[in-house]
Amino acid sequence: MRRAKFEVGSGVRSAECDVTIDRDLESRVREAIDQASNGAAAMEQAVGMLKEGVPAYSWVGIYLLDGEELVLGPFLGKPSPHTRIPLGQGICGAAATSAQTIIVDDVNADPRYLACSIETQSEIVVPIMRGLDVLGEIDIDSDQRAAFGQPDRTLLEPVAAMLAERMAED
Ligand code: SME
Repeated sequence: MRRAKFEVGSGVRSAECDVTIDRDLESRVREAIDQASNGAAAMEQAVGMLKEGVPAYSWVGIYLLDGEELVLGPFLGKPSPHTRIPLGQGICGAAATSAQTIIVDDVNADPRYLACSIETQSEIVVPIMRGLDVLGEIDIDSDQRAAFGQPDRTLLEPVAAMLAERMAED
């Protein structure tokens, strides 16, 4: 059974694996995004706090849509060879095209997967939307199999919505 996300005195354990998300992380990321001087700074703050805040997140980055390509913006983790991803490629391309969050429990079993690091086992991609338009996405890899579930979606989708608001200012 899943526990309520903001239950006092608890973290949130993903049902899928042994990953705990600090219950205050979303509010701390929200505050940092709110206080950042502009959209670019807000993206950097969000990447840094997410990478720092969840040990299972081994690579955290933001891709921005530029025409028909996703262009890598701020990231933390090993350098990725995929600094530009055409919309038709990768899990990143699929998430942007469908405008839906995608969770992949085992990247090596997904033919869409573009490898960033051989250690990566699972991935979540959360589109950053303004209305029906995709502005970019939050992409997170984990070295743990099936690291992502509803608690990550519950954390990251509101963060993406806040980033979309700040990006509108730039
Ligand atoms: N794995 C992604 C590519 C980006 S790297 O993970 C940083 C994909 O399949 O689209």
